[in-house]
Amino acid sequence: MLHLFRRFLADPKSIGAITPSSPSLARAMTARIDNESTVLEIGAGSGAITRYIPNRSNGAPLVLFEQDQQLARQLRYQFGEAWVLEGFFHDTVKQLEELPENLIIVSSIPFKSISDELHSNTVHAICDILHASPGRKLIQYTYFNSPPFTPSHGNLYWKKTANVWANLPPATVWELRMNR
Ligand SMILES: C[S@@+](CC[C@H](N)C(=O)[O-])C[C@H]1O[C@@H](n2cnc3c(N)ncnc32)[C@H](O)[C@@H]1O
Repeated sequence: MLHLFRRFLADPKSIGAITPSSPSLARAMTARIDNESTVLEIGAGSGAITRYIPNRSNGAPLVLFEQDQQLARQLRYQFGEAWVLEGFFHDTVKQLEELPENLIIVSSIPFKSISDELHSNTVHAICDILHASPGRKLIQYTYFNSPPFTPSHGNLYWKKTANVWANLPPATVWELRMNR
């Protein structure tokens, strides 16, 4: 917790939160993750959501994306079974050669505070992945009661899945996928 706060002081716009997600928010973010899909978690931070992701069976991978060097180092130490990619998601995701049909992206990216360029690059990277298969979805929270961003493909739809009051501030959980 102290670690995320320190990184927030160093780079408030990219970190986007003073405190990690609460256990209630982490449970709401991970409740609809099966244990056979590949999971990509963007902005894993200090692992507040990561530790609630169900264990991967059948060798389905867990890949953590974190742009902050110190947080990425800590994630490697904490989650030895995961593959940790350090850098911005839209760049580092290119290292994954082939993505499976059944894929869940879990994201904590603070879309309201990052730069316009990073916002646009990130939205395009996520939507291109989702658009390629109906078996893929994004799970993302916001601190506002409105969808996190406007998708860059017309056939992707948001659905609200939870309101979480036990978080500072209260949050809303959303899913984005091809089927309504
Ligand atoms: C609000 S914190 C959330 C941390 C943790 N997941 C939680 O819920 O407590 C957002 C995290 O996303 C990371 N981040 C922001 N933009 C990113 C990007 N484009 N690619 C990878 N990580 C990013 C930040 O460094 C930070 O650790």
